Amino acid sequence: DGELSLSRSLVNSSDKIIRKAGSSIFQHNVEGWKINFSLVLEIRKNILRFLDAERDVSVVKSSFKPGDVIHYVLDRRRTLNISHDLHSLLPEVSPMKNRRFKTCAVVGNSGILLDSECGKEIDSHNFVIRCNLAPVVEFAADVGTKSDFITMNPSVVQRAFGGFRNESDREKFVHRLSMLNDSVLWIPAFMVKGGEKHVEWVNALILKNKLKVRTAYPSLRLIHAVRGYWLTNKVPIKRPSTGLLMYTLATRFCDEIHLYGFWPFPKDLNGKAVKYHYYDDLKYRYFSNASPHRMPLEFKTLNVLHNRGALKLTTGKCV
Ligand code: CTP
Repeated sequence: DGELSLSRSLVNSSDKIIRKAGSSIFQHNVEGWKINFSLVLEIRKNILRFLDAERDVSVVKSSFKPGDVIHYVLDRRRTLNISHDLHSLLPEVSPMKNRRFKTCAVVGNSGILLDSECGKEIDSHNFVIRCNLAPVVEFAADVGTKSDFITMNPSVVQRAFGGFRNESDREKFVHRLSMLNDSVLWIPAFMVKGGEKHVEWVNALILKNKLKVRTAYPSLRLIHAVRGYWLTNKVPIKRPSTGLLMYTLATRFCDEIHLYGFWPFPKDLNGKAVKYHYYDDLKYRYFSNASPHRMPLEFKTLNVLHNRGALKLTTGKCV
């Protein structure tokens, strides 16, 4: 059946692997790429057996009441209290309810975007998904600015906004969120303990400044369901990266999915160094065993799907 043949092809990928500077890099043709609509529908249907992105993209107000205690999804021994602020920011209904798009962009954060001149192309899609509140204005020519849906791991507060230690960090953050208007801000608040303080500060700033951004907090089952889908397709990921999660969710809403900024390798096909993030100096963490992700394996999988016309990966220049 369809699912089995997808698994087979994910495993027996015939992609050309070229070895350069000790890392495996995967090639894919962009010219001549064509969408395979029947495969797109088959993948959507199969993913729907594991999760319904319309529902699992966020818990809703009626799921909890203030004061409820929940267990962290990836750390069941630890608990979190649903605060009044958090509860007041839960959407009444899924922010993705009945939303359908012809073409979507999922933008990862790899330095491969630098000098890509992909900004216009990315912004031309009907719906643009970005990760971890990545900055756009200074990089608009390469990454575009449109952000309809943007994720934010709680660690971003520490990493990009100085842990909100001073007023200027908080102002910078509020300014960044105000640029999003009424886009969806997706905060995985229930994954692991450690970020609850940051999530509370973010919630308080949104409420205090009456920001229009539409907050969403992924359901408690989402990550297991996404992992389950990929495991069933013989892709043994430990924990799906944000980028893979976004692709998996997007299959529900988007007919044609274009991926940019996915390149978890320190060199490009010509051996030129590629930054881990296009916007900061973070190093390649996925080489360490401590990383929960298997981005090179995810990339290989996405590359197979590109070659079969299920999605389009862009890792080169757009013009
Ligand atoms: N990505 C990639 N290659 C890179 C960097 C990122 O393919 N060199 C993709 C990954 O799918 C990643 C997404 O872009 O999940 C967003 O990048 P980032 O913000 O760095 O995510 P991480 O913090 O690394 O990982 P996560 O949020 O998934 O824990």
